[in-house]
Amino acid sequence: MPYVITSSCVDVMDKSCVEECPVDCIYEGDRMMYIQPDECVECGRCEPVCPEVSIFHHEDLPEAVQQFERINAEFFAGLGSPGGARKVGRTGADHPDVAS
Ligand code: F3S
Repeated sequence: MPYVITSSCVDVMDKSCVEECPVDCIYEGDRMMYIQPDECVECGRCEPVCPEVSIFHHEDLPEAVQQFERINAEFFAGLGSPGGARKVGRTGADHPDVAS
């Protein structure tokens, strides 16, 4: 599991990260963005551009947001690995823990 988006993205979705990602693996939910863990190449370009400091490498996740490693991965249970967020567009959905 590479980079992970956490709670401070919820209801903000600045999307600066999307512009930086060379493999287009940051997908748009309804309330937050999610990184597809199998598509992320761990380049680290998204992390410094997030104004909410929401993105961490999975090994550097603060204790309080550890659950977002699981949440980002589980978000793709239905979507799988589409191979590019732009062609998917806005999913209109969230992980149940984020939606509630
Ligand atoms: Fe993409 Fe690199 Fe972040 S592959 S999700 S910009 S670590």
